[in-house]
Amino acid sequence: MPKAEAVKVSRQIVLWIVANVGGIGKTTLGIHLGYRLAQMGLNTLFIDLDTNGSLARFCGLDSDLEPDQTSAALFNRSFTGDYPIQQPQWGNPKGKFQVCLGGDVMLSVALDLPTRTGRELVLKKALKKYPLSHDLIILDSPASLDVLSYTALAVATHIVVPIPMSVKMAGVDSLLQWIRGEGESLDLDPMPLFLGGVPMRVASNADQQAFYSDIKEVLTEQDIPCFPGIRYSAEFENASNRGRAPLHLYRPGHNACQDFEPVVQALLQQFYCS
Ligand SMILES: Nc1ncnc2c1ncn2[C@@H]1O[C@H](COP(=O)(O)OP(=O)(O)OP(=O)(O)O)[C@@H](O)[C@H]1O
Ligand SMILES: [Mg+2]
Repeated sequence: MPKAEAVKVSRQIVLWIVANVGGIGKTTLGIHLGYRLAQMGLNTLFIDLDTNGSLARFCGLDSDLEPDQTSAALFNRSFTGDYPIQQPQWGNPKGKFQVCLGGDVMLSVALDLPTRTGRELVLKKALKKYPLSHDLIILDSPASLDVLSYTALAVATHIVVPIPMSVKMAGVDSLLQWIRGEGESLDLDPMPLFLGGVPMRVASNADQQAFYSDIKEVLTEQDIPCFPGIRYSAEFENASNRGRAPLHLYRPGHNACQDFEPVVQALLQQFYCS
């Protein structure tokens, strides 16, 4: 593992975790990537734009919050840069991994946004006007690809796509097309870089191996790397239900901890690219 001092950060990365299927491990992937990068010394902020509030549970935090204590604050017309940043209860690596919680209040944001001029750019403008000093910002948005997803797309420098091991590949294909098409409509320059697809809850049976090959083929055709994926383990659910989501904390030494490393390393590489 690279030492904290070894990671020379030359730019800020905004990583959007996007999927068009719910419950497949978006938040789990985001937490583990952020946790590992924070362990390596990178200041990481996980901004949850999702309405389900699972990040609070994963972090052992209270989810019953006023709007200005959540990511909704960033969308407030009178936002003045007072980011509602919290630390997970686990607190280790101390201060390096921080969160802005989402939750059902994000529903009101999603309802209000369409009435606003330049709605897709609201988040981008907030981050530009009140820059965050974090090295890595991770964005988690609802699987419904609603207006909140557009705000994430508009600000992302990188994209990672968790992929369920049980959907038709057409679903993944249409997600990738949606991202590219909407990115062009928003005139993004540069377009965010696809870090890759991450098959989630991978089992070791023959069916899954065949499905993995299909996924890899579709992604490769589109010049998108396909990571080996994250295995299925009931310990992920145990860890998140106990408010200690990173498996590295809850079950250090569990084999699934290693599954995140290829994505962690690919992300780390991006800090060296200009
Ligand atoms: N590899 C895995 N193996 C087994 N369970 C997992 C795995 N990854 C995530 N889980 C569990 O699956 C559930 C859903 O995961 P998670 O909340 O990360 O998905 P999500 O895509 O963010 O869901 P949502 O669409 O509701 O936001 C959680 O209980 C989590 O602990
Ligand atoms: Mg989630």
